[in-house]
Amino acid sequence: MPAGEIPPMGLGTWQNTGPRCADSVETALEAGYRHIDTAQLYDNEAQVGIGMERSEVPREEVTLATKVWVDRLTRNGVLESTAESLKNLRTDYVDILYVHWPGGTYSPEETLSAFDELVDDGRVRHVGVSNFTPALIEEARRHSQHPIYTNQVEMHPLLPQDEMRRYCVENDIHLVAYSPLARGRALELQEVREVAERRGATPAQVCLAWLLSRQNVFPVPKGTSRKHIEENIGALDLELTEEDLGDIDEIEERKRLISPPSLAPW
Ligand SMILES: NC(=O)c1ccc[n+]([C@@H]2O[C@H](COP(=O)([O-])OP(=O)(O)OC[C@H]3O[C@@H](n4cnc5c(N)ncnc54)[C@H](OP(=O)(O)O)[C@@H]3O)[C@@H](O)[C@H]2O)c1
Repeated sequence: MPAGEIPPMGLGTWQNTGPRCADSVETALEAGYRHIDTAQLYDNEAQVGIGMERSEVPREEVTLATKVWVDRLTRNGVLESTAESLKNLRTDYVDILYVHWPGGTYSPEETLSAFDELVDDGRVRHVGVSNFTPALIEEARRHSQHPIYTNQVEMHPLLPQDEMRRYCVENDIHLVAYSPLARGRALELQEVREVAERRGATPAQVCLAWLLSRQNVFPVPKGTSRKHIEENIGALDLELTEEDLGDIDEIEERKRLISPPSLAPW
């Protein structure tokens, strides 16, 4: 894997809480996942930490990401939130720390200089932003000493994010695709189902392989059961043809699923 690269398949954990979450994380690491995505908001960091500790995979092999919620984006809020996250996650550092949304107490100067402090003292390896537009990333870059490493945005066959992807490729920013299965909706699409049938794969694998065929895109599907977790990482072995990819590209329906009115910058 090239230096600075994110593992190709990540595990999403939103709405996976309690002991089940620890099991999912442990199962995912056993199945070969090396990127785990959580957030302060998800109320599961302690379970993620237990799952990571239970697995045999060395900490340094895993890209562990968490996010600071919008009510804690002042300097003190960022430092306190991250100290709590690290304690819950049972680790000394996270690989990516995200600004969860560019709203609430977010201030480019104050928030990003607190993120810089955390990078400087080794508690965070990379600065991430989530739900940012290119203009907001440009602003963030002017206020951050360290590079903006990732933007995590909703991306799936109903929201292909072509413009964002071009911007990220041009500016050397990893694009982490959240809700890559459109929270289950993409699995019902006729075009996705037809490609799945042709390839002897599942609809989830087709969505993920379509995302992976895009340069610089790193999906983080949520999977709770062993069945879903193993099926989803199986997408790494599925190679779609130009015809398959074209059929997904031609889906005309557009749908954004996550857009809280008080936070969404679009
Ligand atoms: N930064 C942000 O603001 C933000 C916003 C939303 C999401 N995220 C991140 O992105 C992750 C993924 O997004 P998401 O959870 O919204 O949605 P998603 O990954 O698109 O879809 C998850 C849903 O699909 C089901 N599923 C998973 N694998 C499947 C399979 N192989 N076959 C059939 N169904 C399958 C899951 O069921 P089971 O749970 O039963 O496996 C769950 O109901 C989140 O967990 C979170 O880490 C970030």
